[in-house]
Amino acid sequence: MGWQMTGRFGISPQLLLGLSLGVLLSASCRQIWAVVASRLTRDDDSTYAQGRIQTKGDDEAVKSEIRVGVEGLIGNTPLMKVKSLSDATGCEILAKVEMMNPGGSAKDRIALAIVEQAEADGLLRPNSGDVVYEGTSGSTGISLAMICRAKGYRAHICLPDDTSTEKVDLLEKLGAEVEKVPPASIVDRRQYVNQARARATDRNNDDSVEGRGLFADQFENEANWKAHCDHTGPEIYKQTGGNVDVFVTGAGTGGTISGVSRYLKQKLPKLKVVLADPPGSGLYNKVKYGVMFDIMEREGTRRRHQVDTLVEGIGINRVTRNFDVGMPLVDDAIRVTDKESLAMAKFLVEHDGLFVGSSTAVNCVAAAKYALKIGPGHTIVTIICDSGTRHLSKFWKAVGPVGGELPAVPLEDILNLSSTASTSRANTPVNG
Ligand SMILES: Cc1ncc(COP(=O)(O)O)c(C=O)c1O
Repeated sequence: MGWQMTGRFGISPQLLLGLSLGVLLSASCRQIWAVVASRLTRDDDSTYAQGRIQTKGDDEAVKSEIRVGVEGLIGNTPLMKVKSLSDATGCEILAKVEMMNPGGSAKDRIALAIVEQAEADGLLRPNSGDVVYEGTSGSTGISLAMICRAKGYRAHICLPDDTSTEKVDLLEKLGAEVEKVPPASIVDRRQYVNQARARATDRNNDDSVEGRGLFADQFENEANWKAHCDHTGPEIYKQTGGNVDVFVTGAGTGGTISGVSRYLKQKLPKLKVVLADPPGSGLYNKVKYGVMFDIMEREGTRRRHQVDTLVEGIGINRVTRNFDVGMPLVDDAIRVTDKESLAMAKFLVEHDGLFVGSSTAVNCVAAAKYALKIGPGHTIVTIICDSGTRHLSKFWKAVGPVGGELPAVPLEDILNLSSTASTSRANTPVNG
């Protein structure tokens, strides 16, 4: 036996040693490389793992993840924790990011529901020349224009002639017919909602034109609140695991607050629903005192618009069908001034990089105020209705400079907390 000896298979010990060393070396090289490679990729993965993008582990093709058309992109929006507001209040403040719908707002849900309901009722037939009419200065026109194009209809949108140019341009680029009318009261025949209704009726009475007319009627059409009851509410329930103490939002048509509340309250009877209301809206007093009145309506102060605020999309001075079906479920209301919503919009950009529209700023003020009122440890859900890009020429112009060298203002400094405390204790109608 010795180094000269050959083994059973005729391999010398030197050769055997060399081979063993080679195998060991190559194995450890592979191990070292594996460690280096895993370090490199783990760095990438941990970055992504905190966000939504998953690059590893989902390289299997899953056909069911393909959404069909723009309709398929509507709903199932993310629920995000607003870190700045949660940290400052000790409550978990969650926001349903409705601006991530393909048309940029929650109105995609109701536009689709209204069109699908009309199809089911035999009132609309694709590619037959049918036209959907709506009176709206907000996002509903944009959502309807998008859905109509996707489903083979035309959209005709009536709006006040002082509607911001970015909205009019967007409607036109989505192929909608835009009709501008002078701002007028809801009792005026030429008011934009009444004008849209009249246009649909005229079309249906005119045998010389091809295709029928449908008045979408977002304020009174019950497909609106039902869309939120069937989808937005259940999504919130699922995303929070049923752990919600408060739902806070503003009301324009009332579809969101009614639909979400109707679903969530039958699942969570202890849930509190809070209306966030801008200046000039009568809903705050309606919820708190049962009287539809706003101080801006008093003798001699009537303005050009019913609801006089920089905020668009929420606030109204009549009880619509869509608000009415959820009104008994609304527990409280918070008045939000324009000063507060402008400061909140700036606060959300400076702390969270979150660029939102005016109604979302109102929602976030109300959510933060309610959080401070009930104390830490609660979960509050609100809505991010649309992006700030829809509000650049009016609301965001008034916000003023953002960021820069100035220290960011603390949350308490932007909320008029004394007014919240006094209005919630008052027993006569007060306008914040
Ligand atoms: C931007 C924006 N936010 C919020 C709302 C309020 O939603 P709802 O009509 O469901 O009350 C609207 C409605 O027009 C809106 O346009």
